[in-house]
Amino acid sequence: MSVSVASDEASSATPDRLLARAGGALRGRGRVPGDKSVSHRALMFAALAVGETAIEGLLEGEDVLATAAALRAMGATIERRGAGSWRVWGCGVGGLAAPSDVLDLGNSGTSVRLLAGILAGHNFTAMLTGDASLRRRPMGRVIDPLTQMGARFQAAEGGRLPATITGTTELVPIDYRLPVASAQVKSAVLLAGLHAAGRTSVIEAAPTRDHTERMLRHFGAEVTVTAEADGTARITVTGEPELRPAPIAVPTDPSSAAFPAVAALLVPSSAVTIEGVLANPTRTGLFATLQEMGADIAWTGLRTEGGEPTGNLVAAGGLALRGVEVPASRAPSMIDEYPVLAMAAACASGTTIFHGVGELRVKESDRLAAIARGLAACGIAVEEGPETLAIHGAGGPPPGGATVDAALDHRIAMAFLVLGLATKRPVTVTGASAIDTSFPGFVALMAGLGADIAVG
Ligand code: S3P
Repeated sequence: MSVSVASDEASSATPDRLLARAGGALRGRGRVPGDKSVSHRALMFAALAVGETAIEGLLEGEDVLATAAALRAMGATIERRGAGSWRVWGCGVGGLAAPSDVLDLGNSGTSVRLLAGILAGHNFTAMLTGDASLRRRPMGRVIDPLTQMGARFQAAEGGRLPATITGTTELVPIDYRLPVASAQVKSAVLLAGLHAAGRTSVIEAAPTRDHTERMLRHFGAEVTVTAEADGTARITVTGEPELRPAPIAVPTDPSSAAFPAVAALLVPSSAVTIEGVLANPTRTGLFATLQEMGADIAWTGLRTEGGEPTGNLVAAGGLALRGVEVPASRAPSMIDEYPVLAMAAACASGTTIFHGVGELRVKESDRLAAIARGLAACGIAVEEGPETLAIHGAGGPPPGGATVDAALDHRIAMAFLVLGLATKRPVTVTGASAIDTSFPGFVALMAGLGADIAVG
């Protein structure tokens, strides 16, 4: 047994086998669920504040519900008041209690890595595990810095889950240079630093999503960012603050908005607007890349909401896309968007090359392999290197007519369903229930815009 999700919070399940076929244009306005990264952090940081935090627009996907269940198992009071509307009564920094059972974080890398940072500062032992996908993913990247700070781990072979972590109230602050561009690792170290007396710094060579920094400040922590002479950024948190509850309005997820937006680009005569999307520049690399490919996609109504930039994403189909080279330096700002970008590349003329994307091999699936396999099955020529992918676009509708397995990966499932809206023959996706980890309601939203996605 492990901690579970209350049944009234579980989303209506996405069928496991779906078929997408080309039909009419996609038209209309839609709103995708709350941002996954912001939702996890909202629950976690509220659980570390003293008093009641109100959260609106929380993503109620399985990943975020796994975070909620883990925090409840450690003493935080978390209540759902209505759709996306949650209240959290936190225990204070260092105030969580030992869980009485294994913490099962399902498919969610963000849950396990950020919670490891928090647990590092607590004087108890907890056991962490997840589904088959999460148990394959590397945890050494958080185990190394958290061990330097004083936490102790026992992990399965290769630094993987299941793992136990034994934290300490005497964590030592460190200066940590990120060996991989990872917001999860940065956040784990900063969260451990929150529990350490003194200042903990993370040095990052390339900017990764900065929701932890923004939201910790929102809760009253002292977080500074300074540009170093060598071009890196030093992010410093001052430990042992008292976090104050602060209301949070979660903007909608650009990584989810990407699916209807790209679908609109690939289906002629489409015109869709996705409302209230998080437009944080550490997350918008996909949209810049699509514009370079010649797509008709733009942000309108940009404003600041709850400390984050948001806007409406407007996408229209019909323009011919052309292949581009996507530089490695852009990867952190679009790390979750390569699967859906690959589908646009498959329909473009010419070759699209992704450079410096080795990190995609350790996401919910080996995404380079999953994209290459699925596109090849759909009749698209692909060359896969250790850290690169070249996609030779069809210059119009690809053949399709294949069955693609999602490999426990929500974004692989959604990407190939988007492709199926533009291929000559339908695309079937198996394992599509993985979509519920980040985008409950995906099929209904796409159907509302006119997409033909059904049980297949
Ligand atoms: C996330 C960071 C990214 C991203 C993941 C969410 C976060 O992972 O892929 O979906 O919320 O910090 P990495 O930090 O491992 O790149």
